Amino acid sequence: MNVPRSRTWPIVALGAVTVLACRPAPPVHADWHPDGPAPASDDDDDAPDVAPAHPHAATMHAWFSGVGEVRDALIAGDRDAIARQAQALARTLDDGSFPAAWQPSVDELRSHAHAAAAEPSLDAAASLVAQMADECGACHDALGVVALVEDALPPDDDVPEGTSAAQIMARHGFGATRMWEGMVAPSPRRWIRGTTMFVITPDCAQTQPDEGTHCERTRSLARRAHLVEDRTARTELYGQLLATCADCHAAARPAARQ
Ligand code: HEC
Ligand code: HEC
Repeated sequence: MNVPRSRTWPIVALGAVTVLACRPAPPVHADWHPDGPAPASDDDDDAPDVAPAHPHAATMHAWFSGVGEVRDALIAGDRDAIARQAQALARTLDDGSFPAAWQPSVDELRSHAHAAAAEPSLDAAASLVAQMADECGACHDALGVVALVEDALPPDDDVPEGTSAAQIMARHGFGATRMWEGMVAPSPRRWIRGTTMFVITPDCAQTQPDEGTHCERTRSLARRAHLVEDRTARTELYGQLLATCADCHAAARPAARQ
């Protein structure tokens, strides 16, 4: 094989090392090219200068984990962590390692990150996190790289088993993450995988103290989300769903009780 792998491998390797949240791109990615396999050549020096299929993989994986950290801090209902992670994301977005044409999308993402960092309301921060995922998906859609992003997503077959309180929460985590990937790719399959988890998982009020009606609301939002296909509606429902997680976790935090 005479494709100059040396140009693509470091990118794939960097993504694999720095971003544990993303499944490292399998080797086949490094060989993929929109025009099909590069013509064979007997002489390495004559090998065509094939553009890597994933020129932005390292940047994308950094964004993927950056937005994922903000999402997890939001789910935990931890305002300090949200601010910290959203500021870190804004710095990552600022590093300029993207084509100039992406600037408007990056500006939008950065403004959401700054707003989330400063936002006192968890509900409003949750909506911003959902809007960021939608911004990712909108560009992938527009640039026709949806299948490629779907390929790079982490596996979705490690469904947490069981019905203890912690196991039900782990299933909530699984569902919320799959829905998020469903927006980022965007992938209708991941979205359905995520929303289905809430439909088949027992109501968390069966195992958690639920002073509000968070659990009921989580499930009813997930049920509605399961049925909608429109991206704006998905974004809105996803933000509201994340807010139910954030509100209950914030209330359960020892600091919040004082
Ligand atoms: C303005 C366009 C644009 C935006 C915004 C964007 N992406 Fe991408 N993304 C791309 C392109 C183009 C690819 C195709 C792979 C490449 O070019 O390296 C890609 C690929 C990816 C991949 C697959 C990387 C791989 O292994 O090849 C992931 C994961 C990803 N994006 C995550 C995100 C996340 C998360 C966001 C939002 C925070 C985001 N992207 C926002 C353009 C964008
Ligand atoms: C009615 C309250 C309530 C709701 C609603 C709720 N959780 Fe939880 N969750 C808890 C409690 C209590 C814990 C355990 C103690 C803690 O971490 O504060 C927990 C823990 C977790 C954990 C950590 C589990 C582990 O391995 O320790 C995850 C992940 C999680 N929740 C995800 C979610 C997601 C995602 C949502 C929303 C879709 C959600 N939860 C909604 C109460 C709730």
